[in-house]
Amino acid sequence: MLKSIAVMTSGGDSPGMNAAARAVVRTALYEGVTVWGIHDGYHGLLEENMVKMESKDVGDIIQRGGTFLGTARCARWKTPEGRQLGYKHLIDRDIEGLCVIGGDGSLRGASLLSKETGIPIVGLPGTIDNDVWGSDYTIGCDTAANTIIDAINKLRDTASAHRRVIVLEVMGRNSGWLALISGISGGAEYILVPEAPYDLEAICEDMKKAYEKGKRYILVVVAEGAGSAKEVGDFIAERTQLETRISVLGHIQRGGSPTVIDRVRASQLGEQAALALISGLSNIVFGFSKGHVVSIDLHDSVNNKKKLDPDYLHLSKVLF
Ligand code: F6P
Repeated sequence: MLKSIAVMTSGGDSPGMNAAARAVVRTALYEGVTVWGIHDGYHGLLEENMVKMESKDVGDIIQRGGTFLGTARCARWKTPEGRQLGYKHLIDRDIEGLCVIGGDGSLRGASLLSKETGIPIVGLPGTIDNDVWGSDYTIGCDTAANTIIDAINKLRDTASAHRRVIVLEVMGRNSGWLALISGISGGAEYILVPEAPYDLEAICEDMKKAYEKGKRYILVVVAEGAGSAKEVGDFIAERTQLETRISVLGHIQRGGSPTVIDRVRASQLGEQAALALISGLSNIVFGFSKGHVVSIDLHDSVNNKKKLDPDYLHLSKVLF
């Protein structure tokens, strides 16, 4: 039974991180365990920017996007010396376990810390990309997908008005999940993802035929890992001679008040992480599979690449 733990958010922020951190803090306090909040991810750990948390410190945050703890991308953490310094800052404060809320890069850093020092570590998948192996959900992916379909709905209006092709570039790093799920739910005609090859020449031929049959407009969603809206848009305009415009949604996808799904699931994951850590478990990531919380081996999670759900890929072809 651990008596003192710490929680941090790391890497790209995502809506719902606050709900997860709040649940870690409140669960620890409920169990009578001291809980530290580390500001600005691994950078803050190296700078000793960390404070003991009280319940009120996580009040009024569940509805907020971003992360009240702050986050960062930290090159120093990629070095063994950096990780040893971070470990020292934890044990100097008698902190016995660490919860890291972040994407695959942050979880990889946590895995190395655990291997090198033996300190108990529990990870939570905090990223809009939904690219953490072993879990079909990551904190923030639902809010980001809803942000994207809101943009798609607005783009459909203007594309229809002008009979245009509009190419929307979305985030996801090397994962096509955001593009696929928002493309399907937004009714996009084409969804380009890094996990599935596509033939722009053939797509352009299809587009010309569709317009000849009276199609008023076409929406293309491209995952950033599959190409840029500019490259795709320029190619389509040149090959089809159809009026084409592009939109790059960028960091708007990272913000916003988390949806109910992200708030509830993040809270469930935060509670499970705190309980697991307090009970002495280590090297696990909590995620979701088929709607239920699951625990995944941390090293497996960071050493395997998550695949896109083939059912969604097939559905996107059927629905167009
Ligand atoms: O990993 C989350 C993410 O938003 C990716 O989808 C995106 O490619 C990347 O972060 C952007 O990183 P940064 O916020 O450092 O520009």
